[in-house]
Amino acid sequence: MDYLYEYLARPCLFRLDPEVAHNRALTGLKLLSKLGPIPRLMERRNMIVPGAAPVEAFGLKFPNRVGLAAGFDKHADVWPVCGALGFGHTEIGTITQHAQPGNEGLRVFRYPQYEAVVNRYGFPNIGADAAAEKLAKGPKKGTRTAPLGVNIGKSKKTELADAPADYLYSFAKLAEFADYMVVNISSPNTPGLRQLQDKDHLVTLLNELMKANRERAAKLGEKPVPFLLKIAPDLTFGQMDEILAVVAESGFDGIIATNTTLDRPASMPELHNQGGLSGKPLLEKSLGVVKYLVKASDGKIPVIGSGGICRVADAGRFLDEGAVLVQLYSGLVYRGPFFARDCARALAWHDQKWV
Ligand SMILES: Cc1cc2nc3c(=O)[nH]c(=O)nc-3n(C[C@H](O)[C@H](O)[C@H](O)COP(=O)(O)O)c2cc1C
Repeated sequence: MDYLYEYLARPCLFRLDPEVAHNRALTGLKLLSKLGPIPRLMERRNMIVPGAAPVEAFGLKFPNRVGLAAGFDKHADVWPVCGALGFGHTEIGTITQHAQPGNEGLRVFRYPQYEAVVNRYGFPNIGADAAAEKLAKGPKKGTRTAPLGVNIGKSKKTELADAPADYLYSFAKLAEFADYMVVNISSPNTPGLRQLQDKDHLVTLLNELMKANRERAAKLGEKPVPFLLKIAPDLTFGQMDEILAVVAESGFDGIIATNTTLDRPASMPELHNQGGLSGKPLLEKSLGVVKYLVKASDGKIPVIGSGGICRVADAGRFLDEGAVLVQLYSGLVYRGPFFARDCARALAWHDQKWV
């Protein structure tokens, strides 16, 4: 199957503009969702690893350790069938309060020689209201075979000072559909967004969101929705220490490390397009961030590792550094639709204990 992708499907897809190729993949998944029992049968085969126990994290049960990172299913179109490819959780979004088209012109670039992707999408999305309407039609919370994450960000037209209100709006609209929620403050393509990683902004944002989360839970007699923070790989150790402290104090449940990087390896001058770099060149940087977060928090704050998983062994290295789960996106472009299944099987083997 891998060979079919490498020698047949990938060369055809790589002739297309990356955004067009991505839309074809979404169309394929939408078609799959209409094939009666087939996606469910595929899910049983690809998502569930025989003999492996589900993974517990953030009070949720994950059928395996490998998730689809945010950005693939930006408009909540295909998340119910991603398990058929092997994903043990899917994160939709980033979704913002206001619907927005994202940046103009070409906004995704592939670099096959480096197994890299650069994107400057700028959060094109249908907005929180329309996303809520779509999610209401999908499988309900509590009946799903794999957790659904909802990743929220700041609308471009919202001033930085008003960011908490923008996130709070999306939280209020989308919490009822989310098994977990992610606060994205780390995409490099929304001007000023990464400033929300600074301590003062972050304290306000996370505390206000957690307050709303607890109030909602008390009103409904439910548990608060697990909340994760997604951070950039381009932080200093001092900034990471501050983030860990704010996450712990606010009661956030964990961290996703990392988003794409603005850095460029000096040895790869071709990666000149503006935007966030993902894929293989990001791997060591993201691993370093996960390693630091796990060590500095004494393993008390669960971390999802993301960044540059392009080989099965790369996923294992995140677990070696203490990550509880991993997510991937660019690896799907280079390794094909069943790469998550292959990683999930390998990681389940890694989990096996002699008895
Ligand atoms: C085309 C593209 C679009 C992305 N869009 C988002 C997004 O909307 N929100 C987000 O939190 N991360 C987004 N990301 C970042 C990914 O979720 C992931 O954290 C990052 O790409 C590193 O993983 P990878 O190397 O496996 O791709 C995007 C990545 C790519 C390649």
